[in-house]
Amino acid sequence: MIHIVGIGPGSPELLTSAGALLIQKADVIVGSKRQLSDIPPDNPAERKLLPSQLSELEAFLRERIGQDIVLLASGDPLMYGIGKWALDRFPQEQLQIVPGISSIQYLCSRCGIAMNDLYITSSHGKQPDFDFLLAHPKVAMVTDSKIGPAEIAEEILQRKLHKTLIIGENLSYPEERLHRLKPEQVAAHYDMNVVVILDEG
Ligand SMILES: C[S@@+](CC[C@H](N)C(=O)[O-])C[C@H]1O[C@@H](n2cnc3c(N)ncnc32)[C@H](O)[C@@H]1O
Repeated sequence: MIHIVGIGPGSPELLTSAGALLIQKADVIVGSKRQLSDIPPDNPAERKLLPSQLSELEAFLRERIGQDIVLLASGDPLMYGIGKWALDRFPQEQLQIVPGISSIQYLCSRCGIAMNDLYITSSHGKQPDFDFLLAHPKVAMVTDSKIGPAEIAEEILQRKLHKTLIIGENLSYPEERLHRLKPEQVAAHYDMNVVVILDEG
C-alpha cells in the first residue's frame, strides 16, 4: 500500500496527526533530503531518497507494494503535487492519499486572504497563459525557478494592470518572509515561494 502523506509547507508542527501516525507505522519512507531529515531519528522505517527520475520511483513503489510505503509530499499531495502522478499510475485500492496544508492555504492564512473564488495554478514546467490568469481578480500560483515573482510582475507591467503581489518565501520555516508589493517593487530573486496576485490598485 502506498500512503501519500501531505506534510504541509514544511514545519513539522503543521503535519496532521493522521500523517504522523502513518509515518510512525511505515516500513519505508520516501522523501526529499529535507523531508527525510525531519523524520524522528528513532523511527525504525527504512528511508529512501526520492529518485530524480519518476520512472525509478514507480519501479521502487511497484517492487515494495506489499509493504506500508509512505511517500512524503510537500503541502497537499493533490495540489500540484505527486498525488496526481500516483493516481495516474496506481489503482485507488493501492493508494491512500492523506491531505496536508498546501503552501497556498498557508500563505492565505498568514496574510488574511479568503480563498473564496481564488483561481489556483502553477508555473511548474509550463508557460502560464497570463492573459487568462490576469483576467481573474484573485490568483494563487506555486512557482518554479523559471517563472516566479519577477516574471509575473513583468507580465503585469506590460499590460499596465493595477495588481498587488503577495509573495510568501520559505513558508513555515524559520527563514519565512512575507512581502506585499506593487509589481514595480518586486525583486529579481526570491527563495522557494508562492505568489497571490490581487486586483488592488
Ligand atoms: C511541486 S509544487 C508542490 C505544491 C504542494 N503540493 C502544495 O500543496 O503546496 C512545489 C512548489 O510549492 C511551493 N511551496 C511548497 N512549499 C513551500 C514553502 N514552504 N514555501 C514557499 N513555497 C512552497 C513552491 O512554489 C514550490 O516550488
